[in-house]
Amino acid sequence: MYPALLTIHSLFRWLVLVSLLLAILQAGSGYFRNRLFTSTDNKIRHWTATIAHIQLIIGILLYIKSPIISYYWASSDNSTTSSDPSFFGLYHFGFMLLSIIILTIGSAKAKREKSDKAKFRTMLVWFSVALLVILVAIPWPFSPWANRPYIRIF
Ligand code: HEM
Repeated sequence: MYPALLTIHSLFRWLVLVSLLLAILQAGSGYFRNRLFTSTDNKIRHWTATIAHIQLIIGILLYIKSPIISYYWASSDNSTTSSDPSFFGLYHFGFMLLSIIILTIGSAKAKREKSDKAKFRTMLVWFSVALLVILVAIPWPFSPWANRPYIRIF
């Protein structure tokens, strides 16, 4: 189950990134062109948050199953010589959780805004901050903290 979860979580990251980028571009164009907030905009807002929530659930399952996380919690002072356990056990988990909270608040606030312009602005600002946090916390092959492939196929 662990290798399958890891592959799904790794590939799902691209869906999270593409949907967030699309939502930000859509919100930006709506805001700067003074467009009406249509049902398509609303669907994009809703699905972007839902995709992130699915990734959160996969991440939690992975956190329970991962041998790296078990190792992190088994080491008495939680500070190991390798950076991977601390990165995934603490920072990746913490920053990703934070990003999804930011995204969720932004989505809920955008939904409740009165004007279309305010809906676009709220989505643009909160989703952009969430994307920045996600980009920093992904273990890219070039990341200074932990390195994982762009595409994992088992
Ligand atoms: C937007 C949210 C997230 C994104 C884009 C994301 C992305 C990634 C990526 C790309 C990897 C490397 C996969 C690989 O080795 O090929 C990874 C690993 C991991 N993620 Fe996430 N993640 C997110 C949220 C979370 C959350 C919220 C948790 C925990 C609750 C989590 C737990 C983990 C764990 C434990 C690993 C490493 C497991 C291992 O190597 O044994 N992730 N994540």
